[in-house]
Amino acid sequence: MVAVLVLAAALAVAQKTSPARADSDWWKNAVIYEIYPRSFGDTNGDGVGDLNGITAHLDYLRDLGVDAIWIAPFYPSPQVDFGYDISDYLAIDPQYGTMADFDKLVAEAGKRRMRVIIDLVLNHTSDRHAWFRESRASRANPKADWFVWRDGKPDGQPPNNWLSIFGHSAWQLDAARRQFYYHAFYKEQPDLNWRNPDVRKAMYDTMRVWMKRGVAGFRLDAVTSLFEDPQVRDESARPGRNAYGDANVSREYTDNLPEVHDVLREMRQVTNEFPGRILIGETYLPNIEELAKMYGQANDETQMPMDMQFAMHGNFSAAVFRKKLREAETQLNGNMPLIVTDNHDNRRSVDRFGDGTHNQEIARLVATLLLTPRATALLYYGQELGMANNDPKRVEDVRDPIGKAGWPKEKGRDGERTPMQWDGTANAGFTKGRAPWLAVGADHAERNVASELRDRKSLLNYYKTLIRLRRENAALRDGLVKIVDENNANVLSFLRQKDGMTVLVALNFSAQAQTVRYDLGGAKKLKTLVSSFEAGEAASADGLVLPGFGAYVGAMQ
Ligand code: GLC
Ligand code: CA
Repeated sequence: MVAVLVLAAALAVAQKTSPARADSDWWKNAVIYEIYPRSFGDTNGDGVGDLNGITAHLDYLRDLGVDAIWIAPFYPSPQVDFGYDISDYLAIDPQYGTMADFDKLVAEAGKRRMRVIIDLVLNHTSDRHAWFRESRASRANPKADWFVWRDGKPDGQPPNNWLSIFGHSAWQLDAARRQFYYHAFYKEQPDLNWRNPDVRKAMYDTMRVWMKRGVAGFRLDAVTSLFEDPQVRDESARPGRNAYGDANVSREYTDNLPEVHDVLREMRQVTNEFPGRILIGETYLPNIEELAKMYGQANDETQMPMDMQFAMHGNFSAAVFRKKLREAETQLNGNMPLIVTDNHDNRRSVDRFGDGTHNQEIARLVATLLLTPRATALLYYGQELGMANNDPKRVEDVRDPIGKAGWPKEKGRDGERTPMQWDGTANAGFTKGRAPWLAVGADHAERNVASELRDRKSLLNYYKTLIRLRRENAALRDGLVKIVDENNANVLSFLRQKDGMTVLVALNFSAQAQTVRYDLGGAKKLKTLVSSFEAGEAASADGLVLPGFGAYVGAMQ
């Protein structure tokens, strides 16, 4: 009786001190779900996903607990880089639908209290974009300086040794201009010249157009690539060769130049013209100090640069994640981390972290790691099902150009982009038409929405429970993170604390069962909130048994 009263009092306090979030802060602790539009839902039977295919599945996303969706590019594009080569920023590629379809998607999402974030590919356009066609036509036209043009060396070689991220020289000779243009990615993706104020203005106006249409913000593609050294100095040599056979070089003159911050500040001003809009950065950075800078010295750059360091690596250990968690909590000046474990450019975490035997247990641990720290969480479609990477088996099946160029060392990104698995039928419910653009994963008979919704113990239901819990539990939503049991080599344990409430998270990174004991002062009892194993209603803080890769979340009492 007494305990019940204490708990009720604690809840009352919690409610008083956590007033409803100001709408402009909606993104804090949110769950953002990345959709690769080619692969989510196909409604017209051409084997390629479309905007209506997203709209058709909005109820599913609402029920999962998603606050916002980020849609990868759907603009007109020659599709060399599957939409990341844009030929018109202000329209919809007909294979994905129409502007009316887009408006409907935003409206339907809004009815379900979900926001829509779009991808802003600002580093480069497609070589078919009108801006580039004009720019390449001569050395003296209004857009001549909109891209990064340089003369070659006297012997006709490229201006310097810069490499494309996708392999080989980053310079392409243009026959008409008899000059080279720079491309950080494919040669069909010429880099815009961000030193030119007209380029900036054009991109900022583009942002305004989409915000007026109701988008909640932008994911800034390849934003650290915006600037290059104006003196075009050679990068330094680095040991080894890349997957494409080039001798490695540094990226000191082409990546993360300080000028990026000027642009981020300007873009923040532009989004500030509209309430509640956010900037998310695609920010692969070497360390937490560089990540911290992306928020801006006066919190005037991106609200959320993606923390790719947190989980976009292959080291699955308690020590590594303890360090990353501590850094995210203590070195981002109290700002909201954006934790990412999966996206359309990297092997799915279930395979990256999986040991081949316990992949589904590990998927539950990753879900817990993603959703229990103080952070906004980014989920990639299919992650909630435990969908595996489905890599092409033969080079002739590869669609992603880097997979063709780098085979077999680099198989490309098709494996993490296969169709969403809605059910166990032949095309996984993705399309009723002919073959999907990429073959569905072999695991779709088992891992699909329909069967996982039915199975109380599925990964999908585990995700749903965690997301619901983090919405309802104030400590888990925005309590501080306190790491405990620092020296445990196998188990990462931390507390989330707010208003006298404490939640314990314990994650066993080993395949063996581990018993953990916590010296937590008075509290000894744990009320299980969610666990990846049968923990029972209550557990004990001085003898919690975690099975191999077990994940446990419990309230201290
Ligand atoms: C980003 C995208 C990736 C794309 C590249 C070039 O890294 O996520 O898919 O290929 O930018 O636009
Ligand atoms: Ca379609």
